[in-house]
Amino acid sequence: MIDLSIDLAALRHNYRQIRQCCGPGVKMLAVVKADAYGHGLVPVSRALVAEAVDYLGVAYLGEGLALRQAGITTPILMLMGILPQDAASVVAHDLEVVVFRADVVEALVAQARQQGKRILVHLKVDTGMGRLGLPPEEVMDFLNWLRGFPELSVMGLISHFAVADQADKFYTLQQLARFTALLQEARHAGWSVPLSHISNSAACLELDAAHLGMVRPGIMLYGSPPAPDRPPPVTLKPVMAMQTQILQLKRLPPGCSISYGCTFTTSAECLVAVLPVGYCNGYSRHLSNCGEVLIRGQRAPIRGRVCMNLTMVEVTHIAAAQEGDLVTLLGADQGDRITADDLAAWTGTISYEFYCLLGNSNPRRFLGE
Ligand SMILES: Cc1ncc(COP(=O)(O)O)c(C=O)c1O
Repeated sequence: MIDLSIDLAALRHNYRQIRQCCGPGVKMLAVVKADAYGHGLVPVSRALVAEAVDYLGVAYLGEGLALRQAGITTPILMLMGILPQDAASVVAHDLEVVVFRADVVEALVAQARQQGKRILVHLKVDTGMGRLGLPPEEVMDFLNWLRGFPELSVMGLISHFAVADQADKFYTLQQLARFTALLQEARHAGWSVPLSHISNSAACLELDAAHLGMVRPGIMLYGSPPAPDRPPPVTLKPVMAMQTQILQLKRLPPGCSISYGCTFTTSAECLVAVLPVGYCNGYSRHLSNCGEVLIRGQRAPIRGRVCMNLTMVEVTHIAAAQEGDLVTLLGADQGDRITADDLAAWTGTISYEFYCLLGNSNPRRFLGE
C-alpha cells in the first residue's frame, strides 16, 4: 500500500555534482550513517563505490560490519568513535576510527598488536560544535602521546561545523581558523595529517577554503540542499519518493469532525480521501492539519490528526478523484512536487529527520541499481 522508492541514479548524479563542485584534488567521504539517511546503507554505498567514492562514513559498528559483509572494501570511518569493547571487531574488519578518548586508543592498540594489524585513526577536535572531540588546547598533547604507538597511524584531524548552512559565515570561519591553526601546529610538530576534514554539505558548496584534503557531504547526496532558503549552485535530484493510493473516498456533510480529537470540523460539504499511511510509516503526527499531498497533480490538505495507519486529506476541489488514485506524499506529480524540506517546514524540523523517519519505517524499492 506504500511505495517508498530510492533512485540510485539520482544519488549518483548528486555525487558527481559534488565531485565537480569540490574539484578533483579533494577526496570525498560519503556520509552513509543512519542507514544512509534512511535511503538504505548497502545499496547506497554500493552505488557510491561504483562512483569510486574515497571513504564511507558510518555511526555505529553494526553499520561498518554490514558494509564489510556486503563485500565493500572502501575505507570506512566510524564517525562517532567507538567504545573500548568494539575495538576487536573494528581492527578485525579494518575500520578507521575517530578518536578522542585515551582508553579507546589503548583498546585499539592492544587489538592491533594481538591481531598483527595497523589501526588508522582520525583525531576529533571540537572547534565550536560543543559535541564530540577534544578541546583544541588538548590536541597537541594527545598527538604527542599517540607517538608512543607504532601500530597506529594518524590520518588527520576531523572537526564538524555547527552553522555552515547559515549565510553568515562568521562563526564557521572562526571554527575553520581554529582547525587550520591546529593543522599548522601539528605539521610543525612533524605530523603530516594528510586526510584532515571538516566540510559538511553546506561547506562543500559555500566554503572552498574548508575543503582541505577531504570533504564529508551527507544531505546533498540524497538530493536536498543544506540550506533550503538558498538554492544550491549545483543541480540536485531527489532520491527518495513516497506514494500511496486512496483507500476510501467519502462525502461528509457540514459540521462533521475528522479523526481523533475532533480537531477538524467540516464547514461545508466536503470530499475526503482516506489514505493508508500514518505515523507508523514515519509520516509524522505533526503533519496533522498542516501537511499536504499531491493527487492528480493537485495539492490536497491533511484534515484532522494523522493516525497510526491512516490519514485523511480533503479532495473537494479535485473533482475527478477516485478510490485507487495515486497519492504522492514525497516527490513529484505532474508539475508539482512535495520535498522533504516541505514536510520539514510544515512540522518544524529538517529534511534529514524526515528521510530517516520515512526510510527507516517502510520497505524500500531501489531504482537504477
Ligand atoms: C560528523 C559529520 N560529518 C558530516 C556530516 C554530513 O552533514 P550534511 O548532511 O549536512 O552534509 C554529518 C551529518 O550529520 C556528521 O555528523
